[in-house]
Amino acid sequence: MSSPLQFAVFGHPIAHSLSPPIHQAFARQFGIELAYRTIDAPPSTFADAVKHFFDHEGGRGANVTLPHKAAAFALADEHTQAAARVGTANVLTRRPDGGLVAHNTDGAGMVRDLTERHGIDLRGHDTLMLGAGGAARGVAWSLFDAGVATLTIVNRTPAAADALADAIGEPARVHTRYWEELGNIGSYDLIVNATSAGTLGQSFTLPFSLAASRALCYDLGYGKSAVGFLAWARAANALYAYDGLGMLIETAADAFELWHGKRPDTEPVYQSLRAQGS
Ligand code: ATR
Repeated sequence: MSSPLQFAVFGHPIAHSLSPPIHQAFARQFGIELAYRTIDAPPSTFADAVKHFFDHEGGRGANVTLPHKAAAFALADEHTQAAARVGTANVLTRRPDGGLVAHNTDGAGMVRDLTERHGIDLRGHDTLMLGAGGAARGVAWSLFDAGVATLTIVNRTPAAADALADAIGEPARVHTRYWEELGNIGSYDLIVNATSAGTLGQSFTLPFSLAASRALCYDLGYGKSAVGFLAWARAANALYAYDGLGMLIETAADAFELWHGKRPDTEPVYQSLRAQGS
């Protein structure tokens, strides 16, 4: 019997990743047999671990998560347009000549979660992005693809917000403000929590005035890390408050399609993970 196709997600830490069960659930939809495992690599060994996986372990494709997304982009031989504008990768594929291709599906995954799963039209939204690190960068361009009107970036460290705004290069539509000003910068239709505070077990206080009357609040994280922000969103009377579980599943579907040439149905996997308490 031939051994199953090999896939993996690289991260650090990575033990509690939902990617293996998501990919196995997708594979069952098509009767595909695959091996999908977590590979915990510290930054110092990440590049070697990726090389070993693809060159010596039969690796067909990999997902990449924190803290390796920039390193994954840097080690690839080719970059898709979506990866190139963001400068990070969440998916690696292998060309027939052995070269690695870096993809970034984070932003498209978030937009699809919002527009297709939750039925929200983002066009014209005034958007507030909290945070300006890798996660914020990963989705910023896609928000404009989806038609948001403006993007205001607020970060604890202002220089990072300015750098992201400069990189996006839409001065008429992208603004930065100081974190200390959050109480008097008006209200927003879409508020994205792209900070890693929740993941780090930290919290911050936000003024309720930020949430417009029909506001949509979205945390790029899920599970415990999103609890604090979503509780704030509900207390602020936001119309919608979503975590990033759907985004994770949509980005996994993009990776699955890149690797297998087949589009999985994400909804049953989303419902099943929700039912299991994710
Ligand atoms: P990620 O890849 O998850 O985005 P990152 O690139 O390290 O991780 O970025 C983390 C983001 O969360 C940054 O915008 C960071 O703000 P700073 O640039 O000031 O560090 C933000 N962040 C982390 N902890 C925070 C906290 N307790 N309050 C507010 N912002 C926080």
